[in-house]
Amino acid sequence: MRFEGDEIIFLLDFYANLYVSIGFGRQMRFSDCVVIAFRGDTAYLTDRHGIGQVSPIIDSQQDVTLTGYNKLSGTHKLVEFRRKLITNDPCDKQLEIEKGYYMQYSFHNDSKTANIGNDLPEHDDDDAKKFRIYLSMTNL
Ligand code: HEM
Repeated sequence: MRFEGDEIIFLLDFYANLYVSIGFGRQMRFSDCVVIAFRGDTAYLTDRHGIGQVSPIIDSQQDVTLTGYNKLSGTHKLVEFRRKLITNDPCDKQLEIEKGYYMQYSFHNDSKTANIGNDLPEHDDDDAKKFRIYLSMTNL
């Protein structure tokens, strides 16, 4: 993660076939997440929010931009996306530097499903985790 002006930029290096999701929040309900799905060699990003332990819903206001991606091998992928720290969307977590947040991720490794729609297939229990981070400008 890095900051540029009023934006936060994420660089995500991951191994997954169908989708990867990363978000703010300590449980699926009320989380503010993005989902990156690959269809063939093309990546698609959606800005979503969680409503419970079901597929997160697409926000009516899309605040996250996919700024680059690279399919390094079959499952190994690199994506870069960015958003404003303050989006003023009630579906998003408003972020401040020098503050701590819960984050979460999940991914799905199915290589048989060619395309996914807005309704994501559920991740395995082991493929979703939460963690805490501290947003800081300080370089360690
Ligand atoms: C169709 C999509 C999804 C379904 C049906 C689903 C369903 C579930 C279920 C049933 C659990 C409970 C598993 C357990 O108790 O061991 C769970 C946990 C979890 N899921 Fe999902 N999930 C979906 C997508 C996502 C996405 C996109 C994220 C985004 C980061 C996510 C993050 C998590 C996390 C962090 C947990 C563990 C923490 C918690 O209790 O909420 N899930 N999910």
